[in-house]
Amino acid sequence: MCGITAYVGPRLCLPIVLDELKRLEYRGYDSAGVAAIEDGRVRVIKSVGKIKNLESLVDEANVQSTIGISHTRWATHGRPSTVNAHPHPDCKEEIAVVHNGIIENYMALKEWLISEGHRFRSETDTEVLAHLFEHFMKGNLEEAIREGLKKVHGSYAVAVVSSHFPEGIIVARKDSPLVVGVGEGEFYAASDIPALLPYTREVYLLEDGDMAVLTHDGVRLGRVNGSKVERSIYHVDWDLSAAEKGGYDHFMIKEIHEQPRTIRDTMRGRVTDDSKLNLSEIGLSAEQLNRFNRFYIVACGTAYHAGMVGKYFMEKHLRVPVEAALGSEFRYRDPIIDDKTLVIVVSQSGETADTLAALRDSKQKGATTLAVVNVVGSTIAREADHVLYTWAGPEICVASTKAYVTQLIALYLLGMHLATIKRTLSEPQIAEMVNAMRELPEKVEQHIAGQEEHIIEIARELCRHPAFFYLGRGMDWVTGMEGALKLKEIAYIYAEAFAAGELKHGPLALITGEVAVACVLTQSDLSDKMISNIKEVKAREGLILMVCREGDQNAASVADYMITIPSVTDAFMPVLAIIPLQLLAYYAAKELGCEIDQPRNLAKSVTVE
Ligand code: F6R
Repeated sequence: MCGITAYVGPRLCLPIVLDELKRLEYRGYDSAGVAAIEDGRVRVIKSVGKIKNLESLVDEANVQSTIGISHTRWATHGRPSTVNAHPHPDCKEEIAVVHNGIIENYMALKEWLISEGHRFRSETDTEVLAHLFEHFMKGNLEEAIREGLKKVHGSYAVAVVSSHFPEGIIVARKDSPLVVGVGEGEFYAASDIPALLPYTREVYLLEDGDMAVLTHDGVRLGRVNGSKVERSIYHVDWDLSAAEKGGYDHFMIKEIHEQPRTIRDTMRGRVTDDSKLNLSEIGLSAEQLNRFNRFYIVACGTAYHAGMVGKYFMEKHLRVPVEAALGSEFRYRDPIIDDKTLVIVVSQSGETADTLAALRDSKQKGATTLAVVNVVGSTIAREADHVLYTWAGPEICVASTKAYVTQLIALYLLGMHLATIKRTLSEPQIAEMVNAMRELPEKVEQHIAGQEEHIIEIARELCRHPAFFYLGRGMDWVTGMEGALKLKEIAYIYAEAFAAGELKHGPLALITGEVAVACVLTQSDLSDKMISNIKEVKAREGLILMVCREGDQNAASVADYMITIPSVTDAFMPVLAIIPLQLLAYYAAKELGCEIDQPRNLAKSVTVE
C-alpha cells in the first residue's frame, strides 16, 4: 500500500515526480522520498510526514536531474520514520529502490545478505531489494534486478535508479499495480493512471512479471524472467477534472454529490428504454448461468457491505444460496467451492489483497469468477473470468461513498439478470424493478437538496456524543453497518451497528443518554418490529435519530431527530438510506476538525494482507 512514480525526459524530474506523487497520496501518507541521478550519482532525499514536508527539502536541495523516482509510504514493516521511508539505498549508495507491496521472505533474505557483509539501515522489507540488486550487480543492472527478483517471494511494484545505469530507470511488477506512461520524448511510471494524467494519456498497463526500462530514448518492455513481451498502449479517455475537487471542500463531499450521476452511469446501456436489462457484456451465457447452484459474494470493508445487500437481494429473488463473505476470512476457511459455484468479488480499487487472494483461490478450486469492480485495468478486473464495471469514476477520498452506491446498483442489475435467466422473476416484475431503479438518481438528488442543511444541523448537535449505535433489520441493518463504518473512519467516533432484534441479547446494556442511536427504518415488512426495538431504547433514555421514509408517522412518533428519504421499493432503499448517513459522517467529521479525505491510519487501496 504505497505509491510510486518515475520520470525520464528533458525536464527536471523532481518537480514532476512530486506532482505525480501528490495524486497518489491517498495510497499512503506517513513518509515520502525521492531519488534522482545527478552527475552520474544517486541522490536520495526523504522525510517523515506528508509530501509537502518532502517538497521543502527537495526545493532546498536544488537537484539538477532528469531521471528520478519517488514514493509515498503507508507503513507495513517498520514504523513511519525518515530511515524507513523509501527510496532505500544499497551499502554503497549506488542503487536506490522504491517499492509497493510486501517481500514475504525478507527476514531470510536479510539474514543471508547480512552474512554476506551487507549493512542494513532500516526495519523495512524493501531494503533487502537494494542489497539483493547490489549483490547480483556484475556490470549489468537489468540482469542484477532479474536475478534479485527471482529470490523474492511476495508482491512488488518497484522502480530502481542506479549509478550503474545513469541512462534511465528500471521498473517491474508482481501482484502490485504499476503503469508506464508514454509522452513526447518523456516517459513515466506510477502506481495508477490518475497520477500520470496531466502528463500523458498513453499508458502501458504492466502485467505481473513485466519489467520496463525507461530511458530518454523510449520504453523497452520485457519479462522479469528475461523473455520478450509486447503490450499495446491503452489510451485513457477519462478526464483529470473528474479526479479533482471541483469546488468542494473535500473529495468526500464532492463524491457524495456525484452519486446521482454515477448511478446513471452504472445503469447506462444496461437498462433499456423499454425497461429491459442488457448485461451481455459479462460474457456469461444463459446456459452457463443456469449451471450455478451456489453463489459467494466476496469483498472487504464497504464493498463487503454492498455484497451483503447483494446477498439479501439475490437470495430472495433467485432462491439459491448466496453467501456474502469477507475476503480476509474467505481465503483461510476452506469454503465449499466447485465448478457449479459463481464467486462474485466486489472491489472499488480492484487491488485489495484479500479480495484478490480469494479470487485466485476460487479460480484454482474450479469456480467461475466475476468481478464487480471500478478501476479499469486493475488486477482483479484482469484476473477475473468475467467483469462488470461499476463506472463510479476515480474515487479519491479514502472513505468510499460513490463506489458503494454503484456497487449496489451493479449487484442489483446482476441479480435481476440472473433472475431473468433463471425465470424466478417474470418480465413484468423485472420491468417494474427497472423502472424503480431509474428513479433513484433523481430521488438521491432530491434528498440531498432537501435535507443536507438539516443534516448539517443534526451533525453539529450530535457529533460530541461519545458513541453512536446504528440499528436496523434486514437490509437496514446493512445500511447501519455502512453508516457506522463511515462515522468511525472519518470522524473517529465509536460507532457500531446492531441487528435490532439482537439488542436484547446484550447491547441494550450499553444504552444510556450518552449514546446516539441512529435507527434505519425503511423495510416495510419489518417496520412494526423495529418500532418496538426503538421503544426499548427510548425507555433507557437513548437518543433516537430516525432515518425513515417521508411521511412515516409511526417512525416520527418515536424520533428525537428525524431525517426523511424519498420512497422507492424496499429492495432499493439501501441506495437512498445510506446518503444521509454519509452526509452525517462527513459533517460530524468537519465539525470536529478531522482531516476527512485521508483519515489517520487508513489508506485507499489495501494491497497488503
Ligand atoms: C471504507 C472503505 C474500505 C474499502 C475496502 C475495500 O470506506 O473504503 O472499507 O471498501 O478497503 O476496498 P476495495 O473496494 O478497493 O476492494
